[in-house]
Amino acid sequence: MTFTAEQTTNHYVPQDLPTHIQHYINGQFVDSLNGATFDVLDPVSNTNYATAAAGQKEDIDLAVAAAREAFTKGPWPRMKPRERARVLNRIADAVEAQEARLAELETFDTGLPITQAKGQALRAAENFRFFADLIVAQFDDAMKVPGAQINYVNRKPIGVAGLITPWNTPFMLESWKLAPALATGNTVVLKPAEFTPLSASLWATIFKDAGLPDGVFNLVNGLGEDAGDALVKHPDVPLISFTGETTTGQTIFRNAAANLKGLSMELGGKSPCVVFADADLDAAIDSALFGVFSLNGERCTAGSRILVERAIYDEFCEKYAARAKNIVVGDPHDPKTEVGALVHPEHYAKVASYVEVGKTEGRLLAGGGRPATSPKATTSHPPCSPTSPRRADLPGGNLRSRRRDHPVRERRRGAGSGEQHPIRPGGLHLDPEPDPRAQLLAERRSRHGLAEQPQRPRPPHPVRRRQSLRPGPRRRLPLHRLLHRPAGRPHQPRHRSHPKFGA
Ligand SMILES: NC(=O)c1ccc[n+]([C@@H]2O[C@H](COP(=O)([O-])OP(=O)(O)OC[C@H]3O[C@@H](n4cnc5c(N)ncnc54)[C@H](O)[C@@H]3O)[C@@H](O)[C@H]2O)c1
Repeated sequence: MTFTAEQTTNHYVPQDLPTHIQHYINGQFVDSLNGATFDVLDPVSNTNYATAAAGQKEDIDLAVAAAREAFTKGPWPRMKPRERARVLNRIADAVEAQEARLAELETFDTGLPITQAKGQALRAAENFRFFADLIVAQFDDAMKVPGAQINYVNRKPIGVAGLITPWNTPFMLESWKLAPALATGNTVVLKPAEFTPLSASLWATIFKDAGLPDGVFNLVNGLGEDAGDALVKHPDVPLISFTGETTTGQTIFRNAAANLKGLSMELGGKSPCVVFADADLDAAIDSALFGVFSLNGERCTAGSRILVERAIYDEFCEKYAARAKNIVVGDPHDPKTEVGALVHPEHYAKVASYVEVGKTEGRLLAGGGRPATSPKATTSHPPCSPTSPRRADLPGGNLRSRRRDHPVRERRRGAGSGEQHPIRPGGLHLDPEPDPRAQLLAERRSRHGLAEQPQRPRPPHPVRRRQSLRPGPRRRLPLHRLLHRPAGRPHQPRHRSHPKFGA
């Protein structure tokens, strides 16, 4: 790992940082009714740079009342899709125009490397454009049942949507929820993550300037157990969209059950990267490094279990470790930095504890400690790459208890091996895999993991031939992929465009 002295001393602090972050209810910035606040940390210096209003049940009640009023009496749910789409496109324009400011705030608040924070505004804007297009293209429908009846499909907004978001790429993730909820004419109460409340306050001004009526968007900061819990249990909130930890999702499911709320859940991952012996090794290493170290490794889709076919395992580990050692850990605002500061000391402690578990189970190939030149207070943390002589573990129990989820593993290790594995929901593991095809199939049946990265050469397969736009059932590529890749252009694997970590 490299970490320059210059990076530690010249920590960049954006201009005009707020020292206090408020709620936004019915078009006004306000504090909590009881004046409660919580401290907000800068993850590089680990010092408090602001306080944020800590929402309680009564603040959620106010926000929901405003959203309910805007829904039952305001113009937003009654506007034609084209009118709402115009507002959404203005929101997208305003988000794009804030690209530089958003990136510096997001980097300061979350510790994400600035080069990786830079694309977030464009992705957020794209979400609004996508749903603006979608709502004008959607239509209601009527179906005649001959001689009996006519059935109608009427698309209508439902009411107040409660949106609860995590701390990784917070602004962009909020846009995933805000854009569809608003596009379809609902009103919202957003409860952002308490570790990273800074960028969410940008939404208020963006929405107001774009012409969103007051009360349609409301924001309540606060802790999950207070503000989040009150939002989930509120009887006037029929929809909850949540992204975060699986265990929090389970709590929310239970709490929403009494009112049979509509739920959308995006929960934590523990995703596999399966490397086949016939893969392009350098490309597979690029992709595996990007998969687990981009966004500081704090991504739900991180490929934190790397399963390598036995024939290339040693070579893969050696090359992978060499690249991991070169990864630049540093101040998140330095464009050279590849891994910045973990979001919060609590999260740092959690990651560090998994490094310790990894050391007891395997050989540490690279990283695993704080850079020597890093000030004591920073949470910057180099990645750890232990290779485990045993199996990687998954959240949810030991190997025996996973029997139904992982039949291939069970068969390979033998039910009588007697090995017990502790619950280990974090860290990065490299494991030799005798049969990656079987493993990939097992992963697909598993309830763990959010994304899958199979690393193998692209076969000269029939899909590309189908792009000759032959009509009929053999053309299986999604339409947008057919339309967006110019005819005759050779396919470029996605990982080629990833930044090369530690190169
Ligand atoms: N699947 C996805 O698309 C996706 C995307 C990003 C992050 N994640 C996951 O999110 C996690 C990181 O986020 P986190 O640590 O902020 O998760 P978290 O579950 O601790 O918190 C997420 C949000 O829920 C709130 N919350 C906590 N307890 C609550 C409760 N009882 N009732 C209502 N709200 C409550 C928090 O205040 C926060 O706003 C990781 O596990 C990551 O994998 C998943």
